[in-house]
Amino acid sequence: MEHEPRYSFVHGDICDEQVVESAVAGADAIVNFAAETHVDRSISGPQDFIRTDVLGTHVLLEAVRRHGIPRYLQVSTDEVYGSVVEGSFIETDPLCPSSPYSASKAGADMLVLAYRTTFGLPVLITRSSNNYGPYQYPEKMIPLFITNALDGQPLPVYGDGRNVRDWIHVQDNCAALDLVLRQGDEGQIYNVGGGNEIENLTLTHTILQALGLGEDLIRFVADRPGHDLRYSVDCSKLRALGWQPQVPVGEGMAATVAWYRDNRPWWEKIKSGEWRRYYEVQYRELHEPDSEAAPDR
Ligand code: TYD
Repeated sequence: MEHEPRYSFVHGDICDEQVVESAVAGADAIVNFAAETHVDRSISGPQDFIRTDVLGTHVLLEAVRRHGIPRYLQVSTDEVYGSVVEGSFIETDPLCPSSPYSASKAGADMLVLAYRTTFGLPVLITRSSNNYGPYQYPEKMIPLFITNALDGQPLPVYGDGRNVRDWIHVQDNCAALDLVLRQGDEGQIYNVGGGNEIENLTLTHTILQALGLGEDLIRFVADRPGHDLRYSVDCSKLRALGWQPQVPVGEGMAATVAWYRDNRPWWEKIKSGEWRRYYEVQYRELHEPDSEAAPDR
């Protein structure tokens, strides 16, 4: 990829107008994947989320305007709709975000749509469900649990583990984004879901089984504040463009577990840096001897 002549990488902050200005000049399209994404970090420090997710999106929209970029895709999340006990959200449903993260993403979606209405920008929005696959930063549940299990460390399940997420393999998500970028109707929103709704506890068992490990590594820890019970999106609109997920969840999960098992140097490096301080603060309970999370219980 790095050797492909059409590829170039600019290491910069999307809030930095000058960096954005020089990076986007002459572009056919902008796809905004840049975001602060981890809900727990947004609870301990919301400010970075508002800055990057809202103000950063604003900088990009202004660049689209100034340069007349022909296409702008905002990569958003199913979390903007909030939690739903039954049924699935469609694109026109009202937004009801629960966390500083999802509120920041909802704010960005509103800005994108307002720039369409006010300035006529050629925008699109995708709202994807929970991604999984290789190279995911080990703060997210799946890579955290797999890598902890590989190290014989506890798997911290929030609350009772009954929360439901709809898992989509990253390749299926990217195929959807590519299709929307090329064939989506301007000004439209497209939900992207894997159709794999799984309770956290079930997924935790799947991970342990895939590694041949027992349930003794599971620790029930204090619930995340404002923890959404279930996310679910209706993807009929995207399917009408001809998309459907290709990766069966059983195969995808097995391949993902194998990838982290086989790529230990990649995640060990991360887990020895900034991540460690984050983990110690976020999962303090795991280290406190009197808590439910104590290793002897
Ligand atoms: P996560 O990967 O953080 O994604 P999101 O919060 O965006 O859905 O979490 C997925 C689910 O797993 C969510 O219900 C929270 C839960 N979870 C845990 O139980 N323990 C953990 O340590 C983490 C990170 C998440």
